[in-house]
Amino acid sequence: MKTVLLTGATGGIGKATALLFLEKGWQVVATGRNEKAFEELSSKLAICHKLDVSDINCVLELKSFLENNNFKIDVLINNAGYGQFGTIEETPIELAVKQFDTNVFGLASVTQVVIPFLRNSGGGRIINVSSIAGKVSMPGGGWYAASKHAVEAISDALRWELSKFNIKVSIIEPGPIKTDFAANVNKSIVYNPEGPYGNLIGNLTGSTKSIKGGTVENCARIIYKAAVSKCPKNRYLVTKEAKLINILIKILPTKLFDKMIIKFFKIK
Ligand SMILES: NC(=O)c1ccc[n+]([C@@H]2O[C@H](COP(=O)([O-])OP(=O)(O)OC[C@H]3O[C@@H](n4cnc5c(N)ncnc54)[C@H](OP(=O)(O)O)[C@@H]3O)[C@@H](O)[C@H]2O)c1
Repeated sequence: MKTVLLTGATGGIGKATALLFLEKGWQVVATGRNEKAFEELSSKLAICHKLDVSDINCVLELKSFLENNNFKIDVLINNAGYGQFGTIEETPIELAVKQFDTNVFGLASVTQVVIPFLRNSGGGRIINVSSIAGKVSMPGGGWYAASKHAVEAISDALRWELSKFNIKVSIIEPGPIKTDFAANVNKSIVYNPEGPYGNLIGNLTGSTKSIKGGTVENCARIIYKAAVSKCPKNRYLVTKEAKLINILIKILPTKLFDKMIIKFFKIK
């Protein structure tokens, strides 16, 4: 039986992906912060382990847990993440650092711990959940986009570095997916309606409300495909919005793209 380890498996894309792997007969090591949310996964025989990816002691504890139980890992899915929105100027640097602690350094420290297990299995897969924001930044979402751009850079370097160990690395680039992500963005967004960017953030939250978004089940299917394809793609775009943005940034001259964004978000 093959084994997959996931981060952020307590909800949204991570939980849907864990459930799909269980359905396909895999051994699933589901990790996350909120132990209460493990109930359904445990009932389906997932091995659930508490993990805050931004806490290095937790990550080292995961390492001991995997070593002590002689785990053989075939696939790592780095999914844990959240969106710290707000303009570059107004978002306190401590919040930007926290964003990187989870989305970038958390992903990297779990990866460092799991690579030897993949190598000992004779090879495997690392699947990093980035975002279309890993390809293109946006006003009011620059810190989040910066973290996902970093995920893309780390993933590319890893893919080359690990190629001699038969470890393949794929990046998942979703557009909007219906999860708690947007609600959590709204809770943590740095927004001063009286400040110089009041309109921008209002327009940002307003414009995203009309987007329907893809489903977690579809995203999970694409992640599964990346795990089992003989020749997985480097990047998987998920949702029609992500595919459209990807085309626009490829075909439009950058100055025209600037104009479009400024108009879309009614910046001036
Ligand atoms: N939904 C979208 O529109 C969208 C689009 C593009 C990319 N993504 C990416 O998809 C991934 C999953 O997001 P989602 O949409 O499924 O959102 P979600 O429903 O909010 O789930 C996020 C998951 O990450 C976990 N998490 C956050 N910080 C963590 C930490 N420090 N340590 C461990 N787990 C942590 C959450 O756990 P808690 O329950 O403990 O907070 C939760 O399980 C993220 O990397 C996100 O950036 C989402």
